[in-house]
Amino acid sequence: MTRTCLSVVLAAGEGTRMKSRRTKVLHEVAGRPLVAHVLASAAEAGTDAVAIVVGRDAEAVAALGRGMVDGVQCFEQTERLGTAHAVVAARAAIAEGYDDVLVLFGDTPLLSAATLSEARRQLADGAAVCVVGFEAADPAGYGRLLMDGAELLAIREDKDATPEERRVRLCNSGVMALDGRRALSLLDRVGNANAKAEFYLTDVVEIARADGLGVRVVLADEAETLGVNTRGDLALVEHLWQERRRAEMMAAGVTLIAPQTVFFSADTAIEADVVIEPNVVFGPGVSVGSGTVIHAFSHVEGARIGADVAIGPYARLRPGTDIEPKARVGNFVEIKNTKLGTGAKVNHLTYLGDASVGPRSNIGAGTITCNYDGYNKYRTSIGADAFVGSNSSLVAPVVIGDGAYVGSGSVVTEDVPDEALAVGRARQVTKPGRGAEINARNAARKAGRT
Ligand code: UD1
Ligand code: MG
Repeated sequence: MTRTCLSVVLAAGEGTRMKSRRTKVLHEVAGRPLVAHVLASAAEAGTDAVAIVVGRDAEAVAALGRGMVDGVQCFEQTERLGTAHAVVAARAAIAEGYDDVLVLFGDTPLLSAATLSEARRQLADGAAVCVVGFEAADPAGYGRLLMDGAELLAIREDKDATPEERRVRLCNSGVMALDGRRALSLLDRVGNANAKAEFYLTDVVEIARADGLGVRVVLADEAETLGVNTRGDLALVEHLWQERRRAEMMAAGVTLIAPQTVFFSADTAIEADVVIEPNVVFGPGVSVGSGTVIHAFSHVEGARIGADVAIGPYARLRPGTDIEPKARVGNFVEIKNTKLGTGAKVNHLTYLGDASVGPRSNIGAGTITCNYDGYNKYRTSIGADAFVGSNSSLVAPVVIGDGAYVGSGSVVTEDVPDEALAVGRARQVTKPGRGAEINARNAARKAGRT
């Protein structure tokens, strides 16, 4: 029998210390908002329904939630009266009656699905409350887990703790799993007689124990439980996320020559036997096929890259780039919204925007697709086996046919039929002896004799 699960994500915090116009949970790690990481872990842990408790920027957070989870419900917490008060804001969702209720913080993006699943297993095993705890290097500020052997007696918030209790290093991550049928009865009995006059979620531990219900703790790595409060925390979480993903990539057969210098997005998908040289950045929406090499200092975003391709060094691939197998993209090439056919080559100093290039075509150094007239964008279509000479400007909309040849330095404003030659530049003029005359005159001018 599989158990149903509701995840309640608390995201109503002010996030004052971020000093930002944006609410905290919309700040990004690995190109993805903090709260989206939490929603992804919740989904992976088998969540059936999601409730987000929002404060500032409620509409933006709700829109993000709707984009990721079908039927997500959002509840506004207008007054910030504590973590239990925030969970109760989602009363209508909890009252729908789930077996498990997971309480997650929207600003804690590294918590793994494995940890959440372990907490759910404790509920399946009969516990009414399961707290995710961790051993803190520095416990200051955290709620302490007061244990009697393996049994959790209570969680004491830092501000309410005695000096002796403050010495405890086992802390509350804030994440909790609650028996869904009992959650509201436990939460409704939480009071606010404490140092912060807040309704503490952590009080459900003692309330459940007084009811004779089972309370458990599962332990997570401290790194998993890190919450983001400042820009410094955001950078630390990004660092830890990247470290974890680099290790996963290498374990999956990707070569990273200098792993610390390669940055992935949450959705970067790379097949085995890809080699990534130093200083490469992957923005959102990239996939890379097997056997491809991404040379140093390349920036790739919104691009599908096939197998056995070479990219860079110093290439920039922008959204809508689609590169077929065995193609070559060289140094100082920028590509946007363009399909590059199998085995096509664009090796140096080129901009391809809103274009398609057929198989095996060669785009010479310094080619520019002139895709924008200041108001509208137009397409350039280049067929198969075409050759575009260096330093050509292709003024879109324009079509260059299969097997066509464009002479170097051309400004191409008209379509070029299949197998035709187009030369769009002034004819060369050669004047015998005139070069020597110019040199003599310039030398005299420099010597001050004229
Ligand atoms: C909480 C825990 C503490 C734990 C710590 C871990 C309680 C009472 N304490 O303390 O035991 O060690 O997290 O970081 O639960 N929030 C709302 N509405 C509110 C209050 C909070 O949405 O009214 C959200 C915040 O945005 C945040 C989360 O709940 O994401 C935690 O709130 P915070 O005030 O940071 O709790 P702590 O005091 O850190
Ligand atoms: Mg906190």
